[in-house]
Amino acid sequence: MSALKILVIPGSLRSGSLNAKLAAAAAHELAQSGAEVTRISLSDFPLPIYDGDLQAKSGVPKNAVNLKRMFGAHHGVLIVTPEYNSSVPALVKNTIDWISRVQDPHEARGQVFRETVFAIAAASGGRLGGSRALAALRLILSACHATVIPNQLALSFAEQAYDDTDRLKHSADHETLQAMVRQLIDVSQRMM
Ligand SMILES: Cc1cc2nc3c(=O)[nH]c(=O)nc-3n(C[C@H](O)[C@H](O)[C@H](O)COP(=O)(O)O)c2cc1C
Repeated sequence: MSALKILVIPGSLRSGSLNAKLAAAAAHELAQSGAEVTRISLSDFPLPIYDGDLQAKSGVPKNAVNLKRMFGAHHGVLIVTPEYNSSVPALVKNTIDWISRVQDPHEARGQVFRETVFAIAAASGGRLGGSRALAALRLILSACHATVIPNQLALSFAEQAYDDTDRLKHSADHETLQAMVRQLIDVSQRMM
């Protein structure tokens, strides 16, 4: 059987991002569990704010097409999102909006969401750990007919959650991450 491929996407561009750290910890855990992991930064895929006129004039930007094809080349996708004003940041929503407009030859628009398994996680300095952003992101992906696994991680008080090597230092957080990773691998393998 070919290796299980998982794409990991932090939803923050900020240097020192708590979500980029969580994405790195999750990527490490996924690799430990035998997955082939690709971790990207959305700073390498800049996109304009979605505008139907722009799409009509110039088509879907190449970066959205490339991201969509990266989704399609992996069995699972983990999105690690910040919470902004109780929801997902514009960066994450805008990226999903553009990808949902990509239509490759012989495919229905949005097909890549139906064929890929998603996991979602969040990190925030607050007590709720970005759980409202996760609820919003689950709704958005579900509306795209994606399979979103039930296990998720909302990492609260994230500034104090990492050790010197940027691994999760509290066993409860680490166990939640492991459970999410295990479920993402299990469900992705079943859909291979
Ligand atoms: C515009 C804005 C809105 C925010 N709203 C929330 C919020 O609703 N809930 C929350 O827990 N943190 C909120 N925060 C704090 C972020 O969780 C915090 O800045 C976090 O570090 C961002 O993620 P990052 O470190 O990965 O960039 C907000 C931050 C910004 C800039």
